[in-house]
Amino acid sequence: MKVITLKYNSIILDEPDYLCNTLSVMKVLLLASLTVDGLIGRHNLHLANWSSAEDKQFFVKTTKKAGTIIMGSNTFDTIGKPLPGRKTILYAKEPEKYVYDNVETTSEDPKLLIKRLNLQGVKTVVICGGASIYNYFMSSGVVDELYLTIEPVIFGEGLRLFSSELNINLTLISVKKINQNTILVHYKVNK
Ligand SMILES: NC(=O)c1ccc[n+]([C@@H]2O[C@H](COP(=O)([O-])OP(=O)(O)OC[C@H]3O[C@@H](n4cnc5c(N)ncnc54)[C@H](OP(=O)(O)O)[C@@H]3O)[C@@H](O)[C@H]2O)c1
Repeated sequence: MKVITLKYNSIILDEPDYLCNTLSVMKVLLLASLTVDGLIGRHNLHLANWSSAEDKQFFVKTTKKAGTIIMGSNTFDTIGKPLPGRKTILYAKEPEKYVYDNVETTSEDPKLLIKRLNLQGVKTVVICGGASIYNYFMSSGVVDELYLTIEPVIFGEGLRLFSSELNINLTLISVKKINQNTILVHYKVNK
């Protein structure tokens, strides 16, 4: 996939670095679909099916490439079953409700979880939401990169991507128009 990478004042074509197979350091990616007014859903059990086909393709490709995804139980409940071909680490306070192949429940501190996955040899992990999990991981300082798809819709009211005070600076890596009305923005977290 080609993306437009902004480098100083010039624009070059480049491959996104999450596709690199030779990463020696684990990467924590956060993927989210946003409305133009910065919301990720209308309510806690809103099925995240309102984003474009191109966004869904990007999500599937990126999460399958990573192999390990992290989500909260409300998001899992809206989907209703594990996403195939990926290991799901599921934040749930009632783990007995979520007994599936390839699903591991947890309530670990994000830093400890990421350290454990790193030790287990995981190279890339994707934070898939919802609102409480995005906020939990972003405020824990473990997120390395964000891929935000901005869809041409406005909800007016709903769930924000982050919901606590944060002080995080980002570097813009690339902006890609993925269809007539939708852009995918890739940021690196400055650490
Ligand atoms: N636009 C997007 O890209 C996108 C992506 C994903 C989701 N979403 C949207 O996000 C919304 C859901 O977000 P949400 O905040 O309500 O739910 P969520 O983050 O998916 O899950 C919240 C649940 O995770 C569990 N949890 C959270 N922290 C935990 C901890 N420290 N230990 C153990 N369990 C923990 C709790 O489960 P228990 O209830 O079991 O205690 C909590 O109720 C939906 O509208 C969905 O469509 C949007």
